[in-house]
Amino acid sequence: MLKKILILATGMLLQLLSSFAANTENGKNQEINLIPIPVKVENRTGSFNITSATKLVADASLKGITDLFAAVLHAPTGYQLRQAESDNSGIHFTINSTYNPTLGNEGYILDVTPTRIDISSNKPAGLFYAMQSLIQLLPKEVESSVKVEQENWTVPCVKITDYPRFGWRGLMLDVSRHYFPKESVKKYIDQLAKYKMNVFHWHLTDDQGWRIEIKSLPELTSIGAWRAPRMGTWWTREPRAKNEPVSYGGFYTQDDVKEIVKYAQDRFVTIIPEIDVPGHSLAALAAYPNLSCTGGPFNVNVGNVFYTKEDNALCPGNEQSFAFMDKVLTELATLFPAQYIHIGGDECYKGFWKNCPKCKKRMTDEKLKTVEELQSYFIKRMEKMVISKGKKMIGWDEILEGGLAPEATVMSWRGIQGGVNAAKMNHPVIMTPDHNCYLDLYQGDPAGEPPTYSMLTLRTCYNFEPVPAELTDQSLILGGQGNLWTESVPTYRHAEYMTWPRAFALSEVFWSQKTSRNWEGFIHRMEANLARYDVANVNYARSVYDATIRPIKKSADKPMQITLVKELDDLDIYYTFDGTFPDRFSSKYTDTLNIPKGADTFRMITYRNNQPVGKMITASIKEIEKRSGSK
Ligand code: ACM
Ligand code: ZN
Repeated sequence: MLKKILILATGMLLQLLSSFAANTENGKNQEINLIPIPVKVENRTGSFNITSATKLVADASLKGITDLFAAVLHAPTGYQLRQAESDNSGIHFTINSTYNPTLGNEGYILDVTPTRIDISSNKPAGLFYAMQSLIQLLPKEVESSVKVEQENWTVPCVKITDYPRFGWRGLMLDVSRHYFPKESVKKYIDQLAKYKMNVFHWHLTDDQGWRIEIKSLPELTSIGAWRAPRMGTWWTREPRAKNEPVSYGGFYTQDDVKEIVKYAQDRFVTIIPEIDVPGHSLAALAAYPNLSCTGGPFNVNVGNVFYTKEDNALCPGNEQSFAFMDKVLTELATLFPAQYIHIGGDECYKGFWKNCPKCKKRMTDEKLKTVEELQSYFIKRMEKMVISKGKKMIGWDEILEGGLAPEATVMSWRGIQGGVNAAKMNHPVIMTPDHNCYLDLYQGDPAGEPPTYSMLTLRTCYNFEPVPAELTDQSLILGGQGNLWTESVPTYRHAEYMTWPRAFALSEVFWSQKTSRNWEGFIHRMEANLARYDVANVNYARSVYDATIRPIKKSADKPMQITLVKELDDLDIYYTFDGTFPDRFSSKYTDTLNIPKGADTFRMITYRNNQPVGKMITASIKEIEKRSGSK
């Protein structure tokens, strides 16, 4: 009981403190602004100074971790920190000789005193996460890729005890809709690992490109990885013209994959490869049209509308589809050390199955009543295949339809209901509901953002709770992940823009204790971490500093009004309706606005402490009316 009260009190204290200020020797307060927020932070007096003479004291077996730390420090400091097996001062990396159950397999204790730093954990992963905390305790200039002169590499004295809430803390990157080169994929993995995420879900195949070399099926990449080049809004694009060259695309060779897998392993990140079948398979069908119900020929999709008009599913009536998948999964299972393979299973249009003689025969032979049961038949055979290769199968929540495969893990994306249903059937679940975790959605007012769809603000990410209260066995919720679909993400810089800072919020949802979460504190720490990204040249969105426009149309005979919504309390919103640029001398928003007669343009900008912090957002009144559905 007392323990419970103490834990509660600690949680409340953490909520009160948005950041921790530690006293350093020179009297300067060095703020502690860690993301994700640790379980426990005890402030100490003084600081530890890293110099060129600082030793990294660790057993030789931990060289992988100490080398990474030395490499991070090398660029900004010019130091070549040396590893030593013993030294009284220095930074000590120690694996506990007896297992500390509180810390689990990923937790750590980081103890900074003026004379030495001690890092201890049960497993190497914990040392890696302690190292990430230690790097965040250093001045932001440590993120620089070039040497920084005259910086004191000072760490405030502090004792941190930390461990994750969930074992599955992921980000997904779709490399099919747009292709991102190997170096970008590595950078994405490095960034997620810095925020203590440990899963990289690699969406490798879809209608718009097959991105992994399968040696026994060379046309998958010689044909399936390439499409006609296009710009413009997704789903409004011109289909590929007859004989038009296919110059956009790319793929990862198996050597690339091995390099990326090793890179991820060094950072304690597990890569989950996804081959999305039986739907989302147009790129595969462009290479092997005989695997479809209709026979083709097919083009790799360029972002033109095709769903329901054109076949994009493997034919589950055709044994060749299974032989194909056996080849793919055989190569995948040897390339990826993860225990899971993701086989997709989402959004399969089954209309062509209904009229396919092979599919009809399969349904009769297997006594399947619906096409959903036919998909379930396909997925269950996928599971047997995956298990035969020594792996476990994950699928999107559609794999519940028509009957769940016996040992499947379900990734819940259409809200949390699929996850709840799967958990009630005793299946493990990864929560990635679109309303909280889809990083391809707008994060600010559409008038101020590159085009995409729907809305997921930073605060909605931050408020995500992965464990539904109605579940009695909450241990079946392995964790969650953010998903970046890339239909509207043509470049890696924009992938970063869509990911950060929303993935900061998710990293805290997945790592930190629920009781430690606090929005104002998070924003303060986010700002410190965005300043680090400025040094690191990582892109991010500042959309949380903007207001969003909400039209109000109470009834058909009443004129539309506008409300402005902000996620940060300390923003002031200034606006105009007369076409001029607002500043802090313009009208300040306090309450619902009537639209002046004849006004055709609304503009707004946010200020904080009399300084502009948001972007100038311009929306035509007609566009706002369309949002309200009134025009
Ligand atoms: C999905 O978003 N189709 C999984
Ligand atoms: Zn068929």
